[in-house]
Amino acid sequence: MQTILVTGGCGFIGAHTIVDLIENGFNVISIDNLSRASDQSLLGIEKITGKKITNYTVDLTDKAATEAVFIANPGIIGMIHFAAYKAVGESVEKPLDYYENNISSLVHLLQMAVKYNAPHFIFSSSCTVYGNPDTIPVTEKTPLQTAASPYGATKQMGETIVKDAAFAHPLSTILLRYFNPVGAHPSTAIGELPIGRPQNLVPAITQTAIGKLPKMQVHGADYDTRDGSCIRDYIHVCDIAHAHTLAIQYSIKNNQPNSCEIFNLGTGNGITVLEAIHAFEKVSGVKLNYEIGPRRAGDIVSIYANNDHAVNQLGWSCKYDLEDMMRTAWQWEQHLAK
Ligand code: WQD
Repeated sequence: MQTILVTGGCGFIGAHTIVDLIENGFNVISIDNLSRASDQSLLGIEKITGKKITNYTVDLTDKAATEAVFIANPGIIGMIHFAAYKAVGESVEKPLDYYENNISSLVHLLQMAVKYNAPHFIFSSSCTVYGNPDTIPVTEKTPLQTAASPYGATKQMGETIVKDAAFAHPLSTILLRYFNPVGAHPSTAIGELPIGRPQNLVPAITQTAIGKLPKMQVHGADYDTRDGSCIRDYIHVCDIAHAHTLAIQYSIKNNQPNSCEIFNLGTGNGITVLEAIHAFEKVSGVKLNYEIGPRRAGDIVSIYANNDHAVNQLGWSCKYDLEDMMRTAWQWEQHLAK
């Protein structure tokens, strides 16, 4: 069995990806310092797969502690690097924490990939690297714009660091640009656990519906879109997770040293905020208490993916539609309330 190291394995996308990797025959170990996630995820993974995952509670900014994991596990052939801080607003307040955490952890892992001959490296990037694009849908060739936040800057810098490392060393690297991952595993054994008041749309919807929040706001309905609200490409977390398995298989099969390939991971469907709310109301039967509020600073009007590259090269397809995303997110919220 091939061993993959997943960093951030207790987080939202990390935990779903571990499940998918196990279901496709990989051996997985995790590093997660639990600063932004709970090790309850490991129980959920075990419930779904029947496999106990070893998590090393190691901070990746600690190079010696990170190296100890590689010394203890000589069979690692590749890694999927999720672990990072990801709150846009917080990154504006604490930019140095974001640069220290997101950049130094990435550099350390790439150094380990080289030193311990674990050449298959997948980096969690983001559609935020496109900023406010001139044309939509965006392809992987759409020019990047200046990042709107230190968080976005860490993703752009991360991409450059991975590319430079792959140029200089025999690494086979892949950058996955996520659009808006939502939903939860249909078993309700794992899902998203937002810290504090949720900033993202779908947790805001489900927390309002269950009564954790009294009301939610649509951040602007006066944009130049079909109903005035912003357009995003929401994608089910299990579809995102499976793309990682396909990406690691692709990297192993092609085994191209000095490579760095980029894939957009979105469904290709642009959905407005109001359409997302109405899809939620339809599948849940709950009338959502929302109001139209002012625009949110920093929001871009509209972005969605051209995903042809991932579909053609990885053989990837999305299995979950918008209603599935809302249904599983709602089932997860109801499960949390039990
Ligand atoms: C979606 C839409 C809001 C909450 C996210 C991540 C970012 C990056 C990309 C990873 C926007 C509107 C939201 C609410 C609302 N991911 N909204 N009421 O801004 O696309 O960014 O994906 O790198 O880190 O944060 O996602 O879910 O915050 O917002 O009307 O209560 O929903 O204005 O139009 P966003 P989001």
